[in-house]
Amino acid sequence: MSCGIDHVQEAKLSAEELRSQINYHDYLYYVRDAPALSDAEYDELMRRLRAIEAHYPELITPDSPTQRVAGAPIEAFGVVQHREPLLSLANAFNFQQLQAWYRRATTMAGADHFDMVVEPKIDGLAVSLVYEDGRFVQGATRGDGYRGENITENVRTIRSVPMQLRGGLCPPQMEVRGEIYMPKPAFERLNNGRADRGEPLFANPRNAAAGSVRQLDPRVTASRKLDIWVYQLGWTEGGQAPATHWETLHWLRELGFRTNPEIRRFDDPGRIEHHYRQWVERRHGLEYEVDGMVVKIDQKHYWDELGFVGREPRWAIAYKFPPIQATTTLKKIEINVGRTGSLNPFAILEPVQVGGVVVKQATLHNEHDIRRKDIRERDTVIVQRAGDVIPQVVGPVVSRRTGKEKRYRLPKRCPACKTEAVRPEGEAMAYCPNVSCPAQIYRWTTHFTGVMDIEGLGEQWAGILLETGLIKDPVDIYFLTQEQLVELPRMGPVLAEKILKNIAASRERSLGTLLFALGIRHVGGEVAQVLAEHFRTLDAIAVAGAEEIREVEGIGPRIAESVCAYFRDPQKREIIEKLRRAGVRFQQPERKRREGPLSGQSFVFTGTLAAMPRSRGERLVQDLGAEAGGSVTRKTTYLVAGADPGSKLQKAQSHGTAVLDEDAFLRLLREHGVEV
Ligand code: IVH
Repeated sequence: MSCGIDHVQEAKLSAEELRSQINYHDYLYYVRDAPALSDAEYDELMRRLRAIEAHYPELITPDSPTQRVAGAPIEAFGVVQHREPLLSLANAFNFQQLQAWYRRATTMAGADHFDMVVEPKIDGLAVSLVYEDGRFVQGATRGDGYRGENITENVRTIRSVPMQLRGGLCPPQMEVRGEIYMPKPAFERLNNGRADRGEPLFANPRNAAAGSVRQLDPRVTASRKLDIWVYQLGWTEGGQAPATHWETLHWLRELGFRTNPEIRRFDDPGRIEHHYRQWVERRHGLEYEVDGMVVKIDQKHYWDELGFVGREPRWAIAYKFPPIQATTTLKKIEINVGRTGSLNPFAILEPVQVGGVVVKQATLHNEHDIRRKDIRERDTVIVQRAGDVIPQVVGPVVSRRTGKEKRYRLPKRCPACKTEAVRPEGEAMAYCPNVSCPAQIYRWTTHFTGVMDIEGLGEQWAGILLETGLIKDPVDIYFLTQEQLVELPRMGPVLAEKILKNIAASRERSLGTLLFALGIRHVGGEVAQVLAEHFRTLDAIAVAGAEEIREVEGIGPRIAESVCAYFRDPQKREIIEKLRRAGVRFQQPERKRREGPLSGQSFVFTGTLAAMPRSRGERLVQDLGAEAGGSVTRKTTYLVAGADPGSKLQKAQSHGTAVLDEDAFLRLLREHGVEV
């Protein structure tokens, strides 16, 4: 009897030994680009491992090299809550902007200079990779920065992503971040094959990579030849990480991650400029797409000190390459009514290729911009595209004028409902003030159903529902019935039921999503998330004054005013009440909280702390298990008041909430073992 067990034991050891060898050779081949075995020798190792696993299926581990392509189709991607949000980057488009960023950061940090790490900005798809005890356990897309899609099985198929980290030196838990991309040759091959089969082509390698990573069948992902550059350490738990980003990248490379060999370190923006100019010339010759350089301050202690604005860290910036341009004829200027009533002029162009894409229309921003650039109908114009951004008209080629060009005036009335347009003080944009303007409602409705992710209720059906009067605004969809829907031409009971089910499910979207869907002027998706994370409920936002909203990190006065005006408007209030009656959720779901000595307590911050940015204070108390952020309510345990506290202080006093000054706050942290 014991003989059988010995056999299993022996097989287990051999399998482990083979896995470790294969992992090492994968690393040499895919990460180091320096294979040490012939293909035949490598195949032999794999064959032996497969044979053992076929014999003893109980010995198969999820991180076994044999599992990289085996996975069965995924039903649907689960949602992953990022433990720390995946941030985005502010942009610099010229050297002045880079210098301005550098000056602001040095001043704010009280430093006379910084060392900076300069990396290629890879145009791919950001991912988070989580490791536990050195084993790969989870891969997720960036998503909205807070929540992404679980793509673990697909990430396993990317051979340069280590399944097992090398050496015993990694923290028990860690997350790294990087960019998944499709190498240009693989992209060409993929598209050639698709063209042969008459399938639609991918517009660029980035879309191809995104499409491949989100394949429900990991075998398809595996066939797509994706690769990764790892560029950032996310969070760690237990263990130590190096104090500089430069050392961190070297350490990550030691652990087996594929880091980009083009990364350099400089101590002066002038040198970065020189390096950047070389890249502008050579970037097309690389096997991956690069849309700029990322500049990061090397010393990580500055990261906490500098904090971030909105979702953009102050300690890093994307120095973008100049966009791709072309010239063509502007045939006509037309107006599009936006979801907030903005009258958006756009150009109808003679179709032209810009960076591999045919452009027929381009935005003109606003009348002021048209006037400033003196863009006329029938002008020859320069059109540009930068990344995914909507094509823009840069300006006219004045030397090509013939005299037939026509100056443009924005119509005095909304082209859709003929209401007289208004231009708010200090804004370049004209608006249609009629909240029942059909064009506005239509745009808002499609925006709403799109953002609330109501499948089946696309532009067409939204238009039909409005035209037939079944709904007067997007919120009315929550009151639609099966009987009403099946009356519509080409709407069968099955489709109607599906749409109603999707509408019902959208009631549970997060507050951030709902806020964005409301279409408040100047509140895009990111700002909406920031507000939702801070205030937690729609009612808290609705009663907050402009001053309180402005206190939220990353929210400027223009946004604060706009949010405040929105909730003061009686017609908008009606919309909110209708949403409430419809049973739509007004809360931001709680992020997974850690258990700790401060569990159950809730902290709110106001004013400026000398020892740290407020965001760090919030993070520290969260790490100790408390809730942080939001506004002062009866549930608030402490208000931490730094210098120049805002209106929250009065509110806390009127609620009888305990107020901690900075010293008391630091003492409290110290009591729990946190030295600042
Ligand atoms: S750092 C705060 N480094 O650019 C750190 N990002 O606009 C944020 N990206 O979502 C990311 N190459 O997808 C960083 N070397 C690099 C990058 C990089 C590409 C992407 C990434 C991110 C976006 C930010």
